[in-house]
Amino acid sequence: MKSDLGRSIRDRLSSRVIGMNIRAMTKGDYDYVVSVLDRWWGGPSTGRIEPILFYELGHHALVAEAEEEGCERIGFLLGFVAPTDPAVGYIHLVGIHPDHRRRGVGNQLYQSFTDRCTKAGVARLKAITTVGDDASDRFHRALGFTGQKDPDYAGPGRARLVFTKDL
Ligand SMILES: CC(C)(COP(=O)(O)OP(=O)(O)OC[C@H]1O[C@@H](n2cnc3c(N)ncnc32)[C@H](O)[C@@H]1OP(=O)(O)O)[C@@H](O)C(=O)NCCC(=O)NCCS
Repeated sequence: MKSDLGRSIRDRLSSRVIGMNIRAMTKGDYDYVVSVLDRWWGGPSTGRIEPILFYELGHHALVAEAEEEGCERIGFLLGFVAPTDPAVGYIHLVGIHPDHRRRGVGNQLYQSFTDRCTKAGVARLKAITTVGDDASDRFHRALGFTGQKDPDYAGPGRARLVFTKDL
């Protein structure tokens, strides 16, 4: 009885985690992400995805594809090693298809980005979130980031949560 219960919990947990392939973002992927961003964010959001993040800062930009669903693209990460401080890996934007959230996709994208950063000699990760974005706040804390509110981060009175994690 006890082992049946244990197995059913394990089955439930493993079925949540999706088989995926994470690879470098191409121009086709970038175009796709731009086309779905408003839908994935639930409102106008294309302003978040400036082309510089792909063309000039996209060396470590990543996409996640579901293995079992015809390689459908289900997530992306736009991040880079900071040109002003190569010890910092900065994650600018991460987004997961709404039907595939809480299945470990964001976690895996961060892990792949972290591996790339470690190889590049990065010592610390940094990410920014708007105050009140509860999902992003919890996600970053679950991944071991420490968050602090900076009241003037984005200019006078424009507060942001600043997350950091030492590698
Ligand atoms: C935030 C976001 C990237 C998380 O991606 P995800 O693939 O769903 O996250 P994961 O499945 O890897 O979650 C890892 C852990 O983070 C925490 N977490 C993630 N989303 C959470 C949520 N909505 N509420 C509470 N905790 C959450 C959990 O602890 C989770 O582990 P668990 O599911 O075993 O409890 C995703 O919800 C998203 O794309 N949101 C819209 C865009 C956005 O806000 N991006 C971040 C700012 S740029």
